[in-house]
Amino acid sequence: MDSLLDSNLNIGKLVLAKPIIYSPLAGCSDYPFRKIASYYRPGLMFCEMVKMEPLILRNPGTMKMLEYSEQMRPIGGQICGSKLDLVAPAAKIIEDLGFDVVDLNCGCPVDKVTKDGSGSGLLKHPDQIGELLMRMVAAVSIPVTVKIRVGWDEKSIVASEVVKIAEQAGASAIFVHGRTRQQAYKGPANWDHIRECKKQAKTIKVIGNGDVFSAQAALDMFAKTNCDGVLVSRGTMGQPWIVEDIERAMQGLAPLERDTEELKKALLDHLECSIQFKSERGALIDMRKVCCWYLKNSFGARQLRSAASTMESLPEIRTLIENYHD
Ligand SMILES: Cc1cc2nc3c(=O)[nH]c(=O)nc-3n(C[C@H](O)[C@H](O)[C@H](O)COP(=O)(O)O)c2cc1C
Repeated sequence: MDSLLDSNLNIGKLVLAKPIIYSPLAGCSDYPFRKIASYYRPGLMFCEMVKMEPLILRNPGTMKMLEYSEQMRPIGGQICGSKLDLVAPAAKIIEDLGFDVVDLNCGCPVDKVTKDGSGSGLLKHPDQIGELLMRMVAAVSIPVTVKIRVGWDEKSIVASEVVKIAEQAGASAIFVHGRTRQQAYKGPANWDHIRECKKQAKTIKVIGNGDVFSAQAALDMFAKTNCDGVLVSRGTMGQPWIVEDIERAMQGLAPLERDTEELKKALLDHLECSIQFKSERGALIDMRKVCCWYLKNSFGARQLRSAASTMESLPEIRTLIENYHD
C-alpha cells in the first residue's frame, strides 16, 4: 500500500499530496465544515454545489457558499446545470474566484434538479456531458473534472461511456459514485462499475466514490477498483479526521484513538466557526445537525443528541458539549 501514498495524484496541472478527496456535500460542506476538515489536510476538498444561474447572477447566498480560506487549499468548486450557454461563464467565475479545480455535477438525484436535465439528469444524455465539459475546458485554465453516478437506473449504466467522453472533452478526472440515480442512497455502491471505469480510462484520473466510511473501506476501494483516488463523502460527516485515518492505514500504521476530548474540541471549534460565519439562528440549526453526526457512533450520546436537536440557544449548546462525557 505504501506506493499509493508515495505517488502524488495529479489532476491536470494540480498535484495532490494525497489521493484522498473530500466531497461536495450540499447543506454540509460549508465554510465551518471545511475549516475543521482543513486541519487534517485532505488532498483536495470541495465546496457544496452551486447552480449555474444564480452563480452568473452573483446571487449573494450563492457567493457566500463559495467563500473559503487559504488553509482549505487545494479547493474545488462544483457547478450544477445543463445549459450549454451558461456553463463556460459559470466555470470562469469559479476560476476567477481562485478555485483550484472546477467540477461539473452529473450526480445530483433531486427531482428539482433533474427535471430540467441537470445533475444526474445529464446521464440520460452522455454527449451533452461531453459538450458541457468541452466548453468548460475551453473557458478556464484550471483543471476541469466531472462527478457522476453510474447511470440513471440499472438498465442504463453509462459510466464507462462517460469516462471516454469526458477524457475526449479534456476533463482531468472523473469522480464515479457507484450508485444509480434510481437507487438514490439505497443499497451498497457497486464498485465493479468503478473498476470498469478505471479500465476504460487512458489519461483521465478515476476517483472512486461510495460507502467509504472507514480507513479499511478506503483500502478496499483502492484494492478492488484500482482507482487513482478515493472521494470520501458521508464518511467525512462527524469524522473530519478520516483522511488521517486512511493515510495511516495506507502506511500500515495503527489507527489513532479518537477520544471524547478530540470529539468535543472538534464540536466546539465547529460551533465557534458557525457563530462567526452564520447568523445566531443559522449556527444553532447547524449545530443541531453537526452534533448528531459527531455523536452517532458514541455510546452514551443519546441524551446529548436528543438535547442537541431541541436546543434553543448557543450558550446552551456550548454548555452541553463542554459537559459531555462518554
Ligand atoms: C447531504 C448530502 C449532500 C450531497 N451534496 C452533493 C453535492 O453538492 N454535489 C455532489 O456532487 N454530490 C453530493 N452528494 C453526493 C456525495 O458527494 C456522494 O457522491 C454520495 O454521498 C456517495 O458517497 P458516500 O456513499 O461515501 O456517501 C451529497 C450527498 C449527501 C448525503
